[in-house]
Amino acid sequence: MRRVAIYPGSFDPPTLGHLDVVERATKLFDEVIVAVGVNSSKDPLLTADQRIDALRKSIVGLPDVWVDKFSGLLVDYARRQGACAIIRGLRATADFEYEFQMAMVNRRLQSDIESVFLMTNWEYSYLSSSIVREVAILGGDISEMVPKAVSELVAEALKDRKPAS
Ligand code: PNS
Repeated sequence: MRRVAIYPGSFDPPTLGHLDVVERATKLFDEVIVAVGVNSSKDPLLTADQRIDALRKSIVGLPDVWVDKFSGLLVDYARRQGACAIIRGLRATADFEYEFQMAMVNRRLQSDIESVFLMTNWEYSYLSSSIVREVAILGGDISEMVPKAVSELVAEALKDRKPAS
């Protein structure tokens, strides 16, 4: 039986840290589905479709990795995809409390889907989408923080946005 893992997130925008986690996950699972969570209450920099586009362009060449979007409960989506695991990246200590809480809730909702935490390469351990977003919105260079395709899409998205005051 093929072992499918879901790698969910907001990915607004996807970073090199996310890509690093995807690559690590492909070594552990037969298929990895990178799933963009669509949360209507947030005000994203990139639309869900732009994030999907950015991720698809960034995973070119990685075998058995797909990009999709989901709304509603993550565990329901994971079950529909026949996944046995949810992958999350973990950086230093800052992520732990939130990730622990999410893993516990997901286990309570669906006990046979395991949460698996992967650490990125140390050079990406400071990266987060929110930091990248802030740097980009304030006009900084994000080219060493995100895949090339993402840099281009972020630049495009920022053209349509009001400059930060
Ligand atoms: O990249 P993010 O913003 O940390 O990703 C969070 C995400 C999308 C994985 C999380 O918000 C999520 O799973 N949302 C779906 C709703 C859900 O299942 N909630 C219960 C588990 S906390």
